[in-house]
Amino acid sequence: MRTVAHEVGTHAPEGSAASGATLAAHVEAYQSDIEKVLISSEEIQGKLAEIGEQITQDYAGRSVLLVGVLKGAFVVMADLARYVRLPLEFDFMAVSSYGMATKTSGVVRILKDLDHDLEGLDVLLVEDIVDSGLTLKYLLKNLAARKPASLEVAALLRKSGLQKVPLDLRYVGFDIPPEFVVGYGLDYGERFRNLPYVATLRPEAYGG
Ligand code: IMP
Repeated sequence: MRTVAHEVGTHAPEGSAASGATLAAHVEAYQSDIEKVLISSEEIQGKLAEIGEQITQDYAGRSVLLVGVLKGAFVVMADLARYVRLPLEFDFMAVSSYGMATKTSGVVRILKDLDHDLEGLDVLLVEDIVDSGLTLKYLLKNLAARKPASLEVAALLRKSGLQKVPLDLRYVGFDIPPEFVVGYGLDYGERFRNLPYVATLRPEAYGG
C-alpha cells in the first residue's frame, strides 16, 4: 500500500514550475509561500534508506541511542530510524534556535536536556540541518563530556560553504546552497515543518 508521502509529489517532474505548485498543495495554505522545491520527498526517502543501511552495517551487533535536536530533527529522526535494522533507543534535547530570524546568533541554550545517561553508549546525534555549525559544535562538546562509547552525527542537510567551524559529520544527506529552506521538519516562524520535501520560500513569505 502506498503512503501519503509517496502520493505527494509524483504528479509532475522535479524542477518544473508545476511541481512546486503541486507539491505545495500538500498544505494548501502554504502554497503561495513556496518558491521552489529543492529536494523532493522521494529523494529524501531514498537518501535516508541509504544512510539507514550504512548505519545498520557500521553499528552491526550493537544498539544505538539516537539523539534528536528539537524541534527540527523530529521528522528526519522518525523516518531515518525506520531504515535502521538495529535495536535503537531515542532521546531528545531542545536548544534555542533562530526564532523568527533567519541568521544564526551563535548563542546556544539548552532548553530541554536528555533523559539518558550517555556514559558507555553509542550515540548518534541526528540533525536536520548544519548551517554555521555553531549549534552542532556546542552540542558535540557538551555530549562528549558525558563519556559516550562513541559519538557521531547524521545530518540530513548541510549548507555548502557556511561552516564556521570544521565538523566531522559521519552521515550527510544533501549539500544544499546557502539559502534559507523550510519543510521536512524545518520551519520559518514555526510554520512549514510538515511539508514532506525541502523548499525555499518566496521573498513575500518573510513579510509576516
Ligand atoms: P547553525 O548553528 O547555524 O548550524 O544552525 C543550526 C540550526 O539553525 C538548525 O538546527 C535549524 O534549527 C536552524 N536553521 C539553520 N538553517 C536553517 C534553514 O535554512 N531553515 C530553517 N532552520 C534553519
